[in-house]
Amino acid sequence: MGETSPLLLSAQEEPFYLPSQDEVAIFEQCHARKLAVMLKGPTGCGKTRFLEHMAWRLRRPLVTITCHDDLTASDLIGRFLVRHDGTAWQDGPLTRAVREGAICYLDEVVEARQDTVVVLHPLTDHRRLLPLDKTGELLEADPSFLLVVSYNPGYQRMLKDLKPSTRQRFVALDFDFPPPARETAIVEREGGADHATAHGLVALAQRLRGLQDQGLAEVPSTRLLVAAARLIASGIGTRAACYAAVVSPLSDDAVVRGAMRDLVDATFA
Ligand SMILES: Nc1ncnc2c1ncn2[C@@H]1O[C@H](COP(=O)(O)OP(=O)(O)O)[C@@H](O)[C@H]1O
Ligand SMILES: [Mg+2]
Repeated sequence: MGETSPLLLSAQEEPFYLPSQDEVAIFEQCHARKLAVMLKGPTGCGKTRFLEHMAWRLRRPLVTITCHDDLTASDLIGRFLVRHDGTAWQDGPLTRAVREGAICYLDEVVEARQDTVVVLHPLTDHRRLLPLDKTGELLEADPSFLLVVSYNPGYQRMLKDLKPSTRQRFVALDFDFPPPARETAIVEREGGADHATAHGLVALAQRLRGLQDQGLAEVPSTRLLVAAARLIASGIGTRAACYAAVVSPLSDDAVVRGAMRDLVDATFA
């Protein structure tokens, strides 16, 4: 039972992903042609699930790094650890992925500081190198290595944005909330709700998303609809589930919440 990891990879159950266009084929070609990929789109619309699915399809491990503004280049690349018998180099997650030929996913890459992001640049050149300055090693990426970043264009646009010199290194795939029929199928399958419930939740989401121009800062994602469906499937009343899983996460403002609750009541009258 020792060396079964390829078998384990293929035996792992396929992560469910309902495609919207040709993103599966494009991603497969990016992997084959060694082109870095950027997933663009709002939160909760299926970017992470898509990658889990693609990693399964391509039989590659997936290394996910959530970016934030304290993330340093050393956090990605690695560092010397002081031990009782001296110091030892430890690869960071990016270095491990480069060596092992994993898919390395940097989630919310705009959150990372510029001096952290530039570490990625040589990996997106055709030579696909990762210089480990502290050890002097110049690491060439395994042929199966793929760099993927995600980026939410609407979010914090004024405060932070990706530099053109960074964004032009990626093939970009656009993600958005799926059209109603497809989103209903996702909510039904992922949330374990019946078709009528899933249909109602998607209708509610359509109405709430329409409020964005009237001051609703955050609109419900597919993820929130799946959460509501799970509550309903486990016996919570439909309206109570919608208040808890959809309305409340979206706003703290009493007036806005009141308007959203009215829409819930109207949808599930
Ligand atoms: N196309 C899709 N196929 C299957 N499930 C989806 C899809 N889009 C969204 N989902 C569901 O929505 C949830 C949130 O999606 P996720 O991939 O985590 O969003 P993101 O990474 O874009 O924030 C998933 O866990 C899954 O249940
Ligand atoms: Mg995600």
